Amino acid sequence: RPRHGTVIAVDGPAAAGKGTLARRLAAALGLPYLDTGLLYRAVGRRVLDVGADPRDATVAEAEARALTAADLERSDLRGPMADMAASAVAAIPAVRAALLDFQRDFGRSRGAVLDGRDIGTVVFPHAQAKLFVTASVEERARRRFLELRGRGVAADPAQVEAEIRDRDAQDANRPVAPLKPAEDAMVLDTTALDAEAAFAAALELVRERVGQA
Ligand code: DC
Repeated sequence: RPRHGTVIAVDGPAAAGKGTLARRLAAALGLPYLDTGLLYRAVGRRVLDVGADPRDATVAEAEARALTAADLERSDLRGPMADMAASAVAAIPAVRAALLDFQRDFGRSRGAVLDGRDIGTVVFPHAQAKLFVTASVEERARRRFLELRGRGVAADPAQVEAEIRDRDAQDANRPVAPLKPAEDAMVLDTTALDAEAAFAAALELVRERVGQA
C-alpha cells in the first residue's frame, strides 16, 4: 500500500487509454483519482456556451476562474467539439495557471492518481511515480472509433484519426506545458497490449517505484 500522500502521474496523448488505466490504478492502490482533462473540457464547454472562441484568452481565463464542481458533472464534455475546445483553452497560459492550484490541492491532501498531459512535468514534478502511456496514432484512432461505435455514435474512421492527429499536434506543440514525457517517466507503449495487459504492466511499474519511495 502506498504511503500517505503518494502522487502518481499518468500522462500521454489523446485516446491512449490513460483514463481507464489511471482509474484502475487508483482503485488498486486505494488512492483518489482525478481526470484533469475534464477541467479543460469543462472550461472549453463554458467558453462555447457564452458564444466565444475557445482561443479567446480573456474569456477562457474568466471561465476557468468561474469553474464549479457542477461543471465537471456535465454530460456534454466529450465529442469532437468538446475535444477541440478543451485542447484550445489548454494552450492558454492563464487558463493553465487558474487550474493549477485545484490540481495540486487535490493531490496533496490524501495523495492521488492524476491523468493528463503535464502532471509529471508541471503539476507534480516530484510525483513518486510517473507513467507516460502511449500507443501508435492508428491504434488510438481504432480504439476511439470502436468506443464511439459502442456508444452508438456514428463516426468515420479517417475523420477520427485526423482529429486525434490535430489534437496531438496542438497539445504537443504549444509553448506552455506541452505534452511530453517527464525525464523520469516510465513510458508504457500499449499499441500491442489489451486493457488487461496494460493495467498489469502499469501496476508493476508503479509498485516498483512506490516501493522505493
Ligand atoms: O485527457 P483529455 O483528452 O480528456 O484532455 C482534453 C484536452 O485537455 C487535451 O486535448 C489537452 C488538455 N489537457 C491538458 O492540456 N493538460 C492536462 N493535464 C489534461 C488535459
